[in-house]
Amino acid sequence: MQKLIIKGERELSGRISISGSKNSTLPILAASILTKEVCLKNIPLVKDIFTMVELLNFIGLKTRVIKKKNIIEIINDQKKINTLAPYRLVKTMRAGVLVLGSLLTKYGTAKVSLPGGCAIGTRPVDLHLLALKKLGAKIKIKDGYIFAEAKRGLKGATIKFPTISVGATENALLAAFNAKGKTIIKNCAVEPEIKDLISFLKKLGANIILKGRKIIISKTKIKNFKIIHRVMSDRIELGTYMIACALMAKKNVIIDKIDPRIIKSEIDILKRIGIKITKKKTSIAIRSNNKLKKISVTTKPYPGFPTDLQAQLMVLLTQAKGISKIKENIFENRFMHIPELKRMGAQIEIKNKTAVIKGPTKLTGAEVMATDLRASVSLVLAGLVAENRTIINRIYHLDRGYESLENKLKKCKAEIKRI
Ligand code: UD1
Repeated sequence: MQKLIIKGERELSGRISISGSKNSTLPILAASILTKEVCLKNIPLVKDIFTMVELLNFIGLKTRVIKKKNIIEIINDQKKINTLAPYRLVKTMRAGVLVLGSLLTKYGTAKVSLPGGCAIGTRPVDLHLLALKKLGAKIKIKDGYIFAEAKRGLKGATIKFPTISVGATENALLAAFNAKGKTIIKNCAVEPEIKDLISFLKKLGANIILKGRKIIISKTKIKNFKIIHRVMSDRIELGTYMIACALMAKKNVIIDKIDPRIIKSEIDILKRIGIKITKKKTSIAIRSNNKLKKISVTTKPYPGFPTDLQAQLMVLLTQAKGISKIKENIFENRFMHIPELKRMGAQIEIKNKTAVIKGPTKLTGAEVMATDLRASVSLVLAGLVAENRTIINRIYHLDRGYESLENKLKKCKAEIKRI
């Protein structure tokens, strides 16, 4: 099994380019089922994307990944499609459940494995199913699979989510694409990735309006020509490298190929901690400050501070003076990095949903274990700041979502290698 070895306390300098967004590419790949030919640009070359491509191949689409150009081409010219997403592909990547909406709205039937729980919580799909049922689908759960049917097609309806879910909003949007009449989705997620999916669906011919937390979809006129779409940049990868620089860059590091407008809450919080950030149109300059200030943060749906950056921010707060607090409001079990950070010397206590972080603490290298994607990268950040050597086990989690992590850090003078 591969490990990462990091020799800490190396100053970061130079430039980092951000890849395309994983969480935007995944639903757009699921949406590619809805049309004939797609060319997606700026896709990140990470494991989750390859798993989704494997799922599309299994369903019967033809795909071609051009790695050198970060492009995927997808053709759906099959008359006979396998409207099935098997357990072996959905269990490793929850976003596989997004093919449910596309298959059902286009072919009137779908059998998709239940994704099951994962390290960060139970992660049910009840809200996905609520949306599909509102659109007229008949749903049955049997043998670990969701069986969905709409023999005469789906019908537009009003869906009101009791709580905000990114995945359920995406599945509802995909299912509404071919539904007859108007669909209104209330209390929807408004993450930038949702907006990217909407712009893709509009290119496919959907008429979609997003206003506040409400989406209205009507009168889709399917376009059968080749759809070209450039995926947005990855705001979580961006936030992760911003925190790496906030920890270890004494002079400005430039992070480019980004859109600073979509990370307002992150920039605001880092500035309040004392980090120096200068925004440009498609890049930022960022450097640390040796007097970091404590802060209290709660994770929230967009435009709030993202749960996907909670673990990384916690590492930064171990270096801030005073008692900082982070309340995790989205997932019930997303503090699994804390025992590992404590083994590196961090002083963190958990009180219900809140982590209480005492700083500044000198972190020291240790052998640690990664548990999920974002927890893993928080250990990398801790390794960058820690004295001596940190060894991170189970790094396959990192490969699910970070393109060329070691190379990007190495280019900025970090001492990091994979064995
Ligand atoms: C997406 C992101 C993930 C991010 C999360 C929250 C992708 C591929 N993944 O995951 O990186 O951490 O948004 O920003 O884009 N819930 C229910 N029932 C449902 C669905 C969700 O109760 O049917 C709950 C979840 O357990 C969680 C909350 O709603 O507590 C938010 O989850 P959701 O927004 O759905 O996350 P994902 O779409 O799975």
